[in-house]
Amino acid sequence: MVPVGKVSPFNIKCELLLQLDNDDVFRQTNETDFDGITAKAESNIASLFQTKKTPFVAVGAIDFGTTYSGCAFSTVQEFKTNPLKIDTLQLDITNASSFKTPTALLLTPEGRFHSFGATAENEYVTLAQKEEANSWYYFNRFKMQLYTNKELTSNMVIKEVGGKTMKAMLVFAFCIEYIKDKVLSTLKNAIYGLDDNDVHWVITVPAIWNDQARKFMIEASAKAGIEKENLTLALEPECAAMYCRYLAMDKKEHGDNVEIKAFDENAKFMVVDLGGGTIDITMAEVLSTGQLREIYNATGGPWGGNYINDQIIKTLKDVIGWELIRNFQADDYDDYLLMLRQVEQIKRGLDHNSELTVSIPEKILQNIKVKDSCVQYVQVKKKYITLSASLMQKIFSTSVDSMIKHVENLLQKKEACSVSTILLVGGYSASNIIQRAFREKFDKKYKIIIPLTPDMIVLKGAVIAGHRVEAIVGRMAKYHYGLGFSAAAVSGRSISIGDHDNKTFFSIIKKGQKIIVGEVVTQYEIVLKAKSTWANLEMYTTKDDNPRTIIDMEHFTKIGNISVKLPQFKRESILILTISYDETEFKVVATDKNTGRCFVGTCEFLEKESNQNEY
Ligand SMILES: Nc1ncnc2c1ncn2[C@@H]1O[C@H](COP(=O)(O)OP(=O)(O)OP(=O)(O)O)[C@@H](O)[C@H]1O
Ligand SMILES: [Mg+2]
Repeated sequence: MVPVGKVSPFNIKCELLLQLDNDDVFRQTNETDFDGITAKAESNIASLFQTKKTPFVAVGAIDFGTTYSGCAFSTVQEFKTNPLKIDTLQLDITNASSFKTPTALLLTPEGRFHSFGATAENEYVTLAQKEEANSWYYFNRFKMQLYTNKELTSNMVIKEVGGKTMKAMLVFAFCIEYIKDKVLSTLKNAIYGLDDNDVHWVITVPAIWNDQARKFMIEASAKAGIEKENLTLALEPECAAMYCRYLAMDKKEHGDNVEIKAFDENAKFMVVDLGGGTIDITMAEVLSTGQLREIYNATGGPWGGNYINDQIIKTLKDVIGWELIRNFQADDYDDYLLMLRQVEQIKRGLDHNSELTVSIPEKILQNIKVKDSCVQYVQVKKKYITLSASLMQKIFSTSVDSMIKHVENLLQKKEACSVSTILLVGGYSASNIIQRAFREKFDKKYKIIIPLTPDMIVLKGAVIAGHRVEAIVGRMAKYHYGLGFSAAAVSGRSISIGDHDNKTFFSIIKKGQKIIVGEVVTQYEIVLKAKSTWANLEMYTTKDDNPRTIIDMEHFTKIGNISVKLPQFKRESILILTISYDETEFKVVATDKNTGRCFVGTCEFLEKESNQNEY
């Protein structure tokens, strides 16, 4: 067994001199092409990358949505007999109409957990009525902040509704812990002697999240008591695809042929997950083994269902007056919340030619004077305010047109040429307006499938994905990944890599390259000569299609480094750099070719601040 020396990144400064009399300083040991990975791992290294998954009795899944969250579970035994027998847990009894509950968290003035979901929403309204809300912490719809924040750190703070801040990691950890404990206690009641470690957890994340956000979720889960070994982060649209694949199998078994064609071997399909915050789109192919392979990079945008609510509220603010709404929100928070709930409820029933009518408290209504320019599309009558059908169409079209255009562009890609089916999932796909728009545009050429409870599909698919870790075999690199070397070092001067601004980018994983989950992505051989006994290799990513040569902070993100102890002080060392992917992150192992010593590094997608406090 080759010894593995685990070293912590970010703490060792090294000086490195690349050997320059040899042009082949940085060479790939195996050719990697776009159609398949040909690089082979040495067996003793490969074992380091296998997903460490301890045997488990049940799978619990958490779909932590922008607007709504939910959880579901099934035991290994149940899964064997019927994979679609998945239990969903009602997270709060106050919201009996749905198995999902609003993603809302209430903490006491001391920062301790109080409640989650609709219970938190209702409690906060009560506090507002008693004018005690100011000192409490109330968070809702905060997940999007991980998507929009480029500089995501473990110490990043987010604002609650009153403007007070708290560490985002803590907020996420509270939510995950609450849901996890609920599922665990239900399972423990049902299965005698069940231990915490007997449950494998799946947490869903949007496919368009960057690596930093995913790493953030892993850390938050660890704080919530879910060990990395017991956790799978699954991409939301992949979960949806997984569920629909099983649904098709179910129909096949029951002799109903309707959906078989879409999910036969080699079938290619598109999943459009229309959530509250984001629209995530993936295209996948069914392999002969029944596994799914992504055929095009996951893409999407922030045109989810909440955009409609935001636009309705913005219009009301324009009509009623910003000042008046601000006062309404500050003075009558409970009534204001009721108005938001009303908007949500009415929005759900809208058709393409419906108008929207909401009731407004008397005291607000008295002060409203609709501007002349607005009278044709806004009416105030009795205690109601009505937005015309044409205005509602305009509001929806911003979101609908963007997503239809995006889907249309994707379907024109060569990878999509044999895609035959479009699956619409996520709560927003229950909208008549959305369904109509998709049918109008794509019905002739594609089969459009909308499951009965579209908002629950990701969650149920996550449970299936937890039972079948190998379910998703391939992804595609979303960025270029590479090493950063000092430009001066490359041009021949002895230089300290860590001290120089200009670094040259050596791409080692190309954007769009296929990645097999749990396997070695690529291997490189680096010949180097160091002035110290440690070499520090820095890893960078870039989103650009054609990466620039010189690394700058605008186009590149440093994602981590690996520190390697060089036994041959001041002499040439040859390192074999092996990069693998284990579902959510890249792992790098540098092996000294002479001694066989391995140094393991995980790409640190989150920059940690030195004086980080535990919560
Ligand atoms: N019938 C409907 N018509 C229009 N919108 C709907 C309907 N039903 C649900 N929605 C919207 O769907 C969204 C919630 O969908 P879902 O539960 O899939 O989102 P989420 O998982 O919270 O979000 P995300 O996946 O972006 O994190 C909300 O914006 C909600 O208003
Ligand atoms: Mg969702």
